[in-house]
Amino acid sequence: MIIIKSEDEIEIMKMAGTVIAQILHDLSRIIQPGITTQELDDFVEQSILKNGMIPAFKGYNGYPASACISVNDEVVHGIPSRKRKLREGDIVSVDAGTIYKGYYSDAARTYPVGKIDEAAERLIDVTRESFYEGLKFCKPGYRLSDISHAIQQHVEGNGFSVVRDYVGHGIGKAMHEDPQIPNYGIPDRGPRLTPGMVFAIEPMVNEGGWQVKVLPDGWTVKTEDGKRSAHYENTVVITEGEPLILTTLSIVEGF
Ligand code: MF3
Ligand code: CO
Repeated sequence: MIIIKSEDEIEIMKMAGTVIAQILHDLSRIIQPGITTQELDDFVEQSILKNGMIPAFKGYNGYPASACISVNDEVVHGIPSRKRKLREGDIVSVDAGTIYKGYYSDAARTYPVGKIDEAAERLIDVTRESFYEGLKFCKPGYRLSDISHAIQQHVEGNGFSVVRDYVGHGIGKAMHEDPQIPNYGIPDRGPRLTPGMVFAIEPMVNEGGWQVKVLPDGWTVKTEDGKRSAHYENTVVITEGEPLILTTLSIVEGF
């Protein structure tokens, strides 16, 4: 069942979302060669707490950190580590969320570490663009799989592939609510979108094949072929008109 949120609930979720958007924006100035993924997690956690919110991921199904930090061929759910130093040319995905007054936000960005190669830049750009392609269908009258289809078309049209084992999701008083939102599929399937639905839409895009594997730590997801992967996620509300991105700083495009 897809839970419809009231305007008051969306107001709270907007606060939760703005804080994580600001933190993800600030991260882009901190990410540089030599920093460890643990230091990035510390920054995310401290910033969330400073804003009087709760790190949504910490303890979620036993997850040990406040952010998922995934480098290069890591797709999602990378666990921050003091031993993992970022290097020039890496790409790093940071996924994090907050809880405010019982409501969740969830967002992710992929960042370049220093100077990266052109293919990596294109991977990051196409991943972000594919979110905005999906967003075009986040309006009443369209059906859920129209979002999925638009994302897949943009990704595959640019020669990349879409991860199939992990999906976007409804979000509200729980991080994961109905519906599941795959990043691929045929159009015109699934529920019709109506105002007050809130979705975390999160394309995960691979440079090579779509297949992934989970490491023995039980969390870290990597590409099977060792090629790189990027992630871009926002929490979005369906309204009567244009969709509203809750995890954004409206003044900085892409954040
Ligand atoms: N952010 C992930 C998602 O989008 C969830 C992370 S799982 C956690 O669904 F355990 F790390 F929190
Ligand atoms: Co999510």
